[in-house]
Amino acid sequence: MDQPTSSRSGAPPLAERPLADDAVGLLAGLTTTRAIRRYQDEPIPEEILRDILFAATRGPSGSNRQPFRFMVLTSSPTAIAAKRLIGEAARALWGAKKTNDQYERGSGADPASPKSRMARTMQGYVDHFETVPCLILPCLVRYRAPSYAEGASIYPAVQNLLLAARALGYGGVITGFHGAVDAELKTLLGIPPEVFISCTVTLGKPVGNHGPVRRRPLQELVYADQWEAAPSWAVDPPGTRYTSAGPPRS
Ligand SMILES: Cc1cc2nc3c(=O)[nH]c(=O)nc-3n(C[C@H](O)[C@H](O)[C@H](O)COP(=O)(O)O)c2cc1C
Repeated sequence: MDQPTSSRSGAPPLAERPLADDAVGLLAGLTTTRAIRRYQDEPIPEEILRDILFAATRGPSGSNRQPFRFMVLTSSPTAIAAKRLIGEAARALWGAKKTNDQYERGSGADPASPKSRMARTMQGYVDHFETVPCLILPCLVRYRAPSYAEGASIYPAVQNLLLAARALGYGGVITGFHGAVDAELKTLLGIPPEVFISCTVTLGKPVGNHGPVRRRPLQELVYADQWEAAPSWAVDPPGTRYTSAGPPRS
């Protein structure tokens, strides 16, 4: 195995370096971790990547088998090729979604509307996919036939990854953009055919801020004893921000 390296000259080797301190409380962090799709044009230092990936790999998995593997792609020729493959797929997918979900119709025609802002963010994200500072492919090494529950042994680790990024001043977003180029990615990166590439995550230092996420009211999402029966304690804390979001319902 390689000797642990020092990522900055004079800094202690990573093996002697404890995890960074962070000032974000756990509950505050997990209620304010937004999907970040715009990044400053700077690489993520290795010690930050180490801490983020360490936190990710502390995620739970069935029987603690730890079937997750994280392919980290930053600036090598291979990483650039992977970003290009996924970037092209992302532009095709977003182009189709923009039409299907009618992003330019209704309130989307008003450039100040949330729908319009979202469409601009998405367009910018896919247009600049090749320049994201870090692309991560969280993979699941299957140890049995694909099952409906297998994601439960990888996605908690992915959420850990996003929360750790937020704790350290970074941010990212999960996407499914790799799906159309799964086979090409496996060939490029030497990923065995039976391995499941579960999603993509892009990471970087945010342009803009994290902050309270918007969701439906607690009463719509939490039931007690009977379907659609909200318990009396299902009351949002002060300052909660709401959205129903999603594609139009027909
Ligand atoms: C399973 C899953 C798939 C997602 N796919 C995409 C995607 O393909 N492209 C994208 O830009 N965001 C994607 N997202 C991010 C969601 O759009 C985002 O988490 C959601 O809109 C809530 O935004 P917020 O986290 O900022 O509150 C995905 C998230 C999840 C959990």
